[in-house]
Amino acid sequence: MNEKLWQGRFDQPTNKHVEEYTASIQVDKRLYRYDIEGSVAHCRMLAECGIISHEEASRIVEGLGEILREIERGQFAFDLSQEDIHMAIEQRLIQKIGEVGGKLHTARSRNDQVCLDMRLYLRDILHQVRELLNEVRKVLVDAADGNLDVVMPGYTHLQHAQPVLLSHHLMAYHEMFCRDDERFRDCLRRTEVLPLGSAALAGTTFPIDMEWTARYLGFPRVTGNSIDAVSDRDYLIEFNAASAILMMHISRMAEELILWSTTEFAFIEMSDAFCTGSSIMPQKKNPDVPELMRGKTARVFGNLMSLLALTKSLPLAYNRDLQEDKAPVFDTADTVIGTLRLLARLIPQITFKRERMERMAGEGFTLATDLADFLVRKGVPFRKAHHVVGQIVQHCIQHRKDLSDCGIDELRSFHKAFDQDVFLLLDMKSAINQRISTGGTAVSRVREAIGRARREMGHEATARKE
Ligand code: ARG
Repeated sequence: MNEKLWQGRFDQPTNKHVEEYTASIQVDKRLYRYDIEGSVAHCRMLAECGIISHEEASRIVEGLGEILREIERGQFAFDLSQEDIHMAIEQRLIQKIGEVGGKLHTARSRNDQVCLDMRLYLRDILHQVRELLNEVRKVLVDAADGNLDVVMPGYTHLQHAQPVLLSHHLMAYHEMFCRDDERFRDCLRRTEVLPLGSAALAGTTFPIDMEWTARYLGFPRVTGNSIDAVSDRDYLIEFNAASAILMMHISRMAEELILWSTTEFAFIEMSDAFCTGSSIMPQKKNPDVPELMRGKTARVFGNLMSLLALTKSLPLAYNRDLQEDKAPVFDTADTVIGTLRLLARLIPQITFKRERMERMAGEGFTLATDLADFLVRKGVPFRKAHHVVGQIVQHCIQHRKDLSDCGIDELRSFHKAFDQDVFLLLDMKSAINQRISTGGTAVSRVREAIGRARREMGHEATARKE
C-alpha cells in the first residue's frame, strides 16, 4: 500500500528519518488545487495529441475531480510516506481508478510539474495582491481627497522643514504603491510561462503540444529551454523581491502611524478596533497593528534572502534543494496579503487632528525658505538671502518669537529689500500654494495627482478584469 511510486530500483525500504527529512507534503499540500489543475490540463493535452485515449483521459480527469473534492472536504489522508503533494495525488488516483491512473505521468516529471504548480499558485497570488494593493491605494486617495485642506509640517531629518499638505504626504505613499504594482504586474509576465513538458530536464520523447497546454491554462507563453525551465526560480525571487520592497514601504508608513499616535506628535487617533491595551497599564492604547506591520517586514526580507541563498551557485538543472523554495514564498504571500488587507481597513479609520497638525506646521521657522525666496525675487542672490534669513531666525530664537512676529522695520534691519508684501508670504496656506512645480504640494497640484490616481486605478481595474 505504502510502496513508493519510484520503488522499482530499490531493495530496501526508506529509512524512517529520511522519509521525515525529505518529505515536503506538510508544506506543499496547499498546492493541491494547482497540482490538479495542471494535471487535468496535461491529461487533456495527452489525449488531444493521441498519446492516451480520450476515454482514458476522461477517467483520469474524473478521478482527479473526486480527489479535489476529497481534499476540500478534509477527507484526504495526507501522509509523510507520500513525500509530496504530487505523489500523494497520483497515488490516490491509481488507488481510485486503477492502472490507467498511471498514464497521467506520461511525458512529465515532478521537476516540471512542481514548477507549473508554483507558477499557477503565484499567478493566483499576484492577482490577489494586486487587487488588495488597489484597495489600499483607493482608501489612501480617499483620505487624501477628504483632507485636502489640512496642513502639516513636512520633515527632513525628522525635523520641521516646510509646511506641506497632509494629502501630499499621503499621496507620496500612493506613488510608492504604484511602483509596487508595476513590479507585481511585471512579475506576472514572467510567471505565466508554461514549463510542463520539459520533463526531468531534457524534454520528452512523446509528441506533446506544450502550446496547447499553455492555452488551456491561460498562459501566453511556454518555456524555451527545458534545462532552464526546471531549475528557474526567478519568478519566485522576483515576487519575494517586489514584496520586500512593498513591505519596506508599508513599514515606513507604519512607523509614521506609530510616531503620529504618540503624545509627542498627537497627529492622529487610530480607531480602537485597530489598537490593543496593556495587561498592566490601564491607560494604554497601543498601535500594535502598525508595529506588527513594521515587524513582519523583517520576515519578508528574510524570505527573499532565503531564496537567493537557496539558488546561489546551484548547478543545473533540478536539485532537491529547490524543494525548500516553497516555505519562503508561502510565508511572504501570506504576510503580504494579511498586511494589505488590514491596511486597507485601518487607513479609513484614522482620525487626523487638523488643529494640532496645523499648529505644529508653523513651529520651527518652517517659512524661512519662503522668506529667503522673497529676497531672491527682489534680486538678492539665493546664497546671500539664505544667510540673511539665517540671521533673522537666530534673532527670533534669541527673542523667543516667530518670523511672523517681526515688524517690517525689524526685517529691514537685516535687509533693505524687505517690504510690506512679505507678510502676504508669511502665511502657511500661501507658502503651500506657491509650490506649484510638478509634483509640488500646492493644492492645485495635489488635486491633479488625486485625479490622475483615480483615473489610473480605473484603467488598471479594467485591465485586470480582461
Ligand atoms: N517535492 C519536490 C520539490 O518540491 C518535487 C520534485 C522532486 N523531484 C525529484 N526528482 N525528487 O522540489
